[in-house]
This record gives sequence, C-alpha cells and structure tokens, in this order.
Amino acid sequence: MKALVLAGGSGTRLRPFSHTMAKQLVPVANKPVLRHVLEAVRDAGVTDVGVIVGSRGAEIRQAIGDGDGLGLDLTFIPQEAPLGLAHCVVAASEFLAGESFMMYLGDNIIVDGLAGFVREFQGSGADAQILLSKVPDPEHYGIAEVDAQGRIIGLVEKPARPKSDLAVVGLYLFGPAIHTAVRSIQPSRRGELEITDAVQWLIERGGAVRSHLLRGYWKDTGRVDDVLECNRAFLEGIAPAMLGKVDADTEVIGRVSIGRDVTVQGSRLVGPLIIGDGSTVVDSHVGPFTSIGAGCHIEGASMDYSILMESVTVRGIRGLHGSVIGRQSTLSPPASALRTSRIVTGDHSHLQIFQH
Ligand code: DAU
Repeated sequence: MKALVLAGGSGTRLRPFSHTMAKQLVPVANKPVLRHVLEAVRDAGVTDVGVIVGSRGAEIRQAIGDGDGLGLDLTFIPQEAPLGLAHCVVAASEFLAGESFMMYLGDNIIVDGLAGFVREFQGSGADAQILLSKVPDPEHYGIAEVDAQGRIIGLVEKPARPKSDLAVVGLYLFGPAIHTAVRSIQPSRRGELEITDAVQWLIERGGAVRSHLLRGYWKDTGRVDDVLECNRAFLEGIAPAMLGKVDADTEVIGRVSIGRDVTVQGSRLVGPLIIGDGSTVVDSHVGPFTSIGAGCHIEGASMDYSILMESVTVRGIRGLHGSVIGRQSTLSPPASALRTSRIVTGDHSHLQIFQH
C-alpha cells in the first residue's frame, strides 16, 4: 500500500506563522507537524509515500529531505493551486496508479498510531474507511451522519447545522473506486473538490464505506490554539534527556528533555518540557508543557504552556502563557525610564498584553 500525505493548501487560519512558513512545518515538541505525520505513516508499515506540495514546496522539501533519514521513499507531487482534498487525489493519479492507498492530512496528528486502522482496512475489501472523532465544534469539520448501527448515512463538509458531533479525522483509507469518485464530483460552494463529497458519491452508489470511532488523541493543527494543545499532548509522552549542562542552582522537576549544548543556570525547569540544542536558560522558570526551539536565549523570564520556535530571545518577561513565538523574535521590557510598550510584529499577529 502507498500513502498520500497532503502538505499543500494555504493555512490562513494559522497566520501569522503561515505568512513565513508552510503550516505543516510549525513545530510541535520541537519537530515539524509534517515529520510527526511521516513517522506515523512509516510506523504503520507504509514506506512508498507521495507528498502533495503547493507554493511552499521547496521549503517542505528542504525540511523533510528525500525521506532517507525517515526510512521512507518520498515522491513530491506538485499541486498547481489548493483546489481541494479530492483534487489532491487527481493530482497524484500517476503516483497512485489506480490502487488502494492511505491518505493523511499533513496538519493532522493522531498520537496512538495508524497500524490498526490499516490492518482493519486491508482485510475488509471496503471502498473507503474513515475515522470519526467526537468534537465540540462540528461546524469546523467534515461531519458524518450515522444510523443506529453506526453505519454512515451521509457526509457533509463543515455544515452550518451539523447533524452529529462526529468529525471526519484526516486519515482515510481508500480502495480503487475513489479514483472514479474524485473525477465524478463537482467543486463545492467554496470552490474545492471535497473528499467528503467523493466519499458521499461512493455511499450514494452503494459503495462499502466503513467507519471507525477513534478514541485516542487526534488534533487538526489548523489553528494556533490547536498547535498548543497538540504540543501539550506530545510532551506528555516525552522521554527525559540530559545532553546539556545544568548547574547546581537549577531545579529540574518531572520529564525534561535537554538538548545538546544547552546551558541552564539558576533556573527551575518543570516538565513536561523540551529545550532544543544550543539554547541557554538563566534565572528563569520554564514549563510545564513548553517547547523551546534550538538556539533560544531565556533570561530572567517565566513561561508555561508555550512554544518558542528557533532562535527566540526572551529577557525579563514573566508570566508568558499560551504563547507561540515565531523564529528569531525578541521579547524584552522597555528601557527603564519608559512606561510604554513597543511592539514590532508582522501581519495578523495576536497580542494580549497584561497591564499592571
Ligand atoms: O482535520 C480534519 C478535516 O480536514 C476534516 O474534518 C474535513 O472534512 C477535511 O476537509 C479537512 O478540513 P480542513 O479545512 O481542515 O482542510 P485543510 O484545508 O486545512 O487541508 C488539510 C490538509 O491538506 C492541509 O495539510 C493542507 C492540505 N491541502 C489542502 C487543500 C485544500 C492540500 O495539500 N491541497 C489542497 O488543495
């Protein structure tokens, strides 16, 4: 079986980060979401993987490489514009060669592994198998209507009045019939060829569409709050590591992963927490549920439930919570005489400033 991983699209909900990076490269536990996705595909035993890329294809190739380091054989497949998830299947038709495949959205994280779903599908002879998960905000997802026996009656993409709270998770298993379905549907009101419409097309023609209720952790990292929540979930399972130098005045509590060439002095580190290679932490309180990227400098600061991307400096700022800071940003207090704040941020930034 092959896999098709979707890493195109626009990422408007993940601004400002998606202005400067592909949304699938946003780090969760110091690793791009797309890397977590590709590792999950490999761990399910699938190694022949097509990756759909859009305008940020070069950046994605650079971050992921040719898959050698991951034990994968990657084929990058350009999509000329984000024309929809079903359009991705059309764009990949040569690679998929009319066969069964797994499709995984490059911004979705399923923590418990995929092997069980793949095995279940392979023995079933079904045309499609989708995963469902209960959500509190069904209007943001593809939604399934199921009968009393749990069989799918219909699928609707982001309905204004959802008929259930069962969201379609971004992992699909398809038999060859999907190739006809994606070529038979019309673009939706938002102008995309929807994969939900393609599956609905199969259902209406008597196709065998199975579903499975996912009980483990799943997150679409399409919004900033989801990225933070996913970071929290991943850090829960982090293995402690100590590759750097921590002085005697530092207290380390819980599962903390400290990378190479990290220096920590006079600080309190509370796990789950990961600190990337080459970072320094001085007189600070960091964690829990925090990922510090490589090359950061934190001094006289405190933070929890946050993500600092690469090469961020935070000096003299306390009480950061639920924050995501982009690469090479600097946070510091104003010069001593000033009682004003100075903010230089990019487009679509989101600042909530606590006033004393
Ligand atoms: O996360 C689950 C949801 O994912 C499902 O419940 C929905 O039914 C499904 O349509 C999808 O909804 P989203 O609005 O979250 O899809 P998004 O536009 O974020 O695209 C998902 C991934 O596919 C993302 O990594 C970008 C990529 N993509 C998207 C489009 C539209 C492409 O590679 N090409 C595209 O044309």
